Amino acid sequence: MEWWKEGVFYQIYPRSFKDSNGDGIGDLNGISEKLDYFEYLGIDAIWICPFFKSPMVDFGYDISDYTSVDPIFGNIEDFKSLIDQAHRRNIKIIIDQVYNHTSDKHPWFVESRKSRNNPKSDWYIWRDPGPNGELPNNWVSLFSGQGEESVWTWDENRKQYYLHLFAKEQPDLNWRNEEVRKAIYDSMKFWLDMGVDGFRFDAASHFYKALDINAKKGPQIKKSLFQSSRDEYYWDPFTARPETLIEVENIIKFMNKYDNRASVGEISSDMGLCLYLLFTIQGRFNIAFNIDFLEKLSMNAKNIRSLVETLDAFFGNRAWPSYVTGNHDNRRILTRMIEGLHVNYEDKKRISKLFATLLLTLRGTPFIYYGEEIGMEDTYIPKDRVMDPWGKALWPKPGRDPARTPMQWDSSKYAGFSEVEPWLPVNDNKSFVNVKDEIKDEDSVLNFYKRLISERKNHDSLRNGTFEIIDLDDKVLAYKRNGEKPVVVIMNFSSESVMINWNGGKVILDNYAKPELPYLRSFEALLIEID
Ligand code: GLC
Repeated sequence: MEWWKEGVFYQIYPRSFKDSNGDGIGDLNGISEKLDYFEYLGIDAIWICPFFKSPMVDFGYDISDYTSVDPIFGNIEDFKSLIDQAHRRNIKIIIDQVYNHTSDKHPWFVESRKSRNNPKSDWYIWRDPGPNGELPNNWVSLFSGQGEESVWTWDENRKQYYLHLFAKEQPDLNWRNEEVRKAIYDSMKFWLDMGVDGFRFDAASHFYKALDINAKKGPQIKKSLFQSSRDEYYWDPFTARPETLIEVENIIKFMNKYDNRASVGEISSDMGLCLYLLFTIQGRFNIAFNIDFLEKLSMNAKNIRSLVETLDAFFGNRAWPSYVTGNHDNRRILTRMIEGLHVNYEDKKRISKLFATLLLTLRGTPFIYYGEEIGMEDTYIPKDRVMDPWGKALWPKPGRDPARTPMQWDSSKYAGFSEVEPWLPVNDNKSFVNVKDEIKDEDSVLNFYKRLISERKNHDSLRNGTFEIIDLDDKVLAYKRNGEKPVVVIMNFSSESVMINWNGGKVILDNYAKPELPYLRSFEALLIEID
């Protein structure tokens, strides 16, 4: 089985993981310092969000040089040493490639905006205004705040508009230009030659835009993504052009010249699942990020059942699914799931373990977002500490900062993340939600994750086996992973006890001290090995 199918991935937001040089911002050497931790947990691969040269308007997702490390994070030698040390421990590293757009400070854009006829004039998406100065079309930026902000920004110099699906400091590249494509492939080559194990492709469903862009009005576009639910938002005008899918195939052919590299696409669309499949069938990305799953999770067993049942059947043998419960663009899973519930700290731990069980026992590649494994929650960010450009636009609604706060290593003032005040505030719950204390506590969320990962490694069925729903009770989600040493997973998503019709097998993991089958207590999650 390919490593990216059976491995457990861990996502690192590098600014917030570990500060090694006392500037309040995490860095590459900080990650190297924590390799023991990944070994302890049993992580097979880490995905590091962008650490390339960037003006940091979108904290690294606005790149001004694809092949150098931003000094805030260290230098290229630090990165080489990280790869080296990780590989010696059998840990793979994938990096984030942001090829839909660059920073407006990237020398390519600086040149492109100088005139209409310089050598890079066609490297971005420029359009003339309408006869009365109108915008080329009515698309709304994905980063709009309270109002509807256009994807078009006027450039006084060229007397033209340029397109940016995200912030105006993130102009979209013109993938139809051959030189642009060459430059992108050169940058991939740079990192592949250095030995990275693969890429996460940011905003990969948006690479190509419609040729007749001016005619593409999206009347359904009412709000920006974060003001609405994904279903309300109309993405189609800039999603999944056939040209993008063909390009993905070229990217994969290119990557296949190297051994054993993995590709993960960030695919965003109101077409959810359908698009994931389209992007991951044979010859395309290995995995698409299952953002749909993340967004649709709730404390409702019936809903989750329908979600995972459909997903598993839909992917079948056609492509390989992934599962994600959190990432740097969303609120943390625990915070979302306890909304509206009256829960105490014990319940919170159980709910964290419940979702860990789901994440790590479904048929597909699991991605753990840093901090979920200790049960971190969203952190309140006062107005004067908001950093996220989108968060600023959305205020008083929280943006993405609350889920990006420093990793809680211990209970000290800055949670062992840094010696100085970190770039984002530390959550007060660091005094009990932290790695140092949880390592020592058998019953901690951290040690539950560790045991789950180890059961996953011990049971081929959990990694590779087929998935079969078991009907027990509406409040309960239960399924069996078939194969050698089959495992049955039973989860109670309600705060009530339930009696189920189940006997047999050996309980190998429980988020309570001892099972009391056939009773399931509130938020109980069990793994049962059967013959
Ligand atoms: C992706 C990233 C997000 C970033 C955006 C623009 O959605 O996950 O963090 O802001 O792309 O690059």
